[in-house]
Amino acid sequence: MIDIHCHILPGVDDGSRDLEESAAMARIAYEDGIRDIIVTPHFNETYLTTADTVHRKLEELQKELDRQAIGIRLHPGNEVRLESKGFFDDHHRGGTFARLGRGGTHVLIEQRWKGYDPDTPEIVERLLDAGVVPILAHPERHFFFREDPEGLLGLIELGLWTQVSADSLVGNFGPEAKAFGRWLIETGRAHTLATDAHNVERKPNLGAGMAVFEEIAGKSARAELEARMRSIVDRA
Ligand SMILES: [Fe+2]
Repeated sequence: MIDIHCHILPGVDDGSRDLEESAAMARIAYEDGIRDIIVTPHFNETYLTTADTVHRKLEELQKELDRQAIGIRLHPGNEVRLESKGFFDDHHRGGTFARLGRGGTHVLIEQRWKGYDPDTPEIVERLLDAGVVPILAHPERHFFFREDPEGLLGLIELGLWTQVSADSLVGNFGPEAKAFGRWLIETGRAHTLATDAHNVERKPNLGAGMAVFEEIAGKSARAELEARMRSIVDRA
């Protein structure tokens, strides 16, 4: 399996603290059946982890995983918060954050927790026009999407992909996130699944999340989901 959202890079955000914790996270991911991880440290007003840092730290961690013979391949990325249209546009234009994988055909975006950014449709449209597919991190965890899914459905119609967190599907973010995550799968609106793992305590659960997906959507939908996720890193 491939994990497209993971805070495994050491010492850059609120994820892994050091190389040792990152290696431990990679071991747990390997045991869960994960073989590729897109590293997605936060890119926001608190943690501005730039693409340069992502690439440098990724090399360092990959070397350590190879040294410890942990069979995981790392790919670059960021989780970019839509702090404001200006924040996103400036950094996108400047190439400050890393898109997903070496092909750079996708970008992982995140809403602020306090409320929906009304500029999102414009940002999404502009990305799609430029040939970049935006993937929205864990919409099922945001109260404003659960209370009023219309905005989210509109974004999906434009061409946005969603990333549902495996932890939501197994109930670790409460009954509402679980129900909304399952509803996204039932209605064909869960385009990717990921762990959003931050440390060794927060287990990946990707295998369990995939099993929930398959139980709801069936085997062929799961194969399509995995192929879609694979395409993000294979377009190098
Ligand atoms: Fe995250």
